[in-house]
Amino acid sequence: PLVLVVNGPNLNLLGSREPAKYGTTSLADLEQRISGTAERVGVDVKFVQSNHEGVLIDAIHAMRQRAAGIIINAGAFTHTSVAIRDAISAVALPMVEVHLTNVHAREPFRRHSFLSDIAESVIVGAGPKGYDFALELLASRVAQVDA
Ligand code: DQA
Repeated sequence: PLVLVVNGPNLNLLGSREPAKYGTTSLADLEQRISGTAERVGVDVKFVQSNHEGVLIDAIHAMRQRAAGIIINAGAFTHTSVAIRDAISAVALPMVEVHLTNVHAREPFRRHSFLSDIAESVIVGAGPKGYDFALELLASRVAQVDA
């Protein structure tokens, strides 16, 4: 089974971007870590990071009838994008929403997500480990379907 891991705007700057909030792990390190977890839980992963909403939407569409699930940290698009929400609904794949930081402990505008109510699970404030948890969850879900 294949899981698409989507990282949205500004996450390409992970490691150097506001390290007090987002930590010092780079996106490359994060993706490497996720690959290790994927191997351990027995799924394949495909990564996409973009600062452009349409690129993220195209990447989600490309997984239609191909992937077993989507892990998404949509960055600031979380709080603004009906289009990304609709793309996830359109492909009808189980989705786990991840945020490195606890979005509920920050500015009020980060509390609303266009994705949370269509997510299987929402993991916030766990840092890079949040992606591991998301992968474990999707892997166990796939195992149930296969069984
Ligand atoms: C974020 C939280 C968002 O509010 C913010 O815009 C980001 C990162 C997180 O991972 O904590 O870019 O999604």
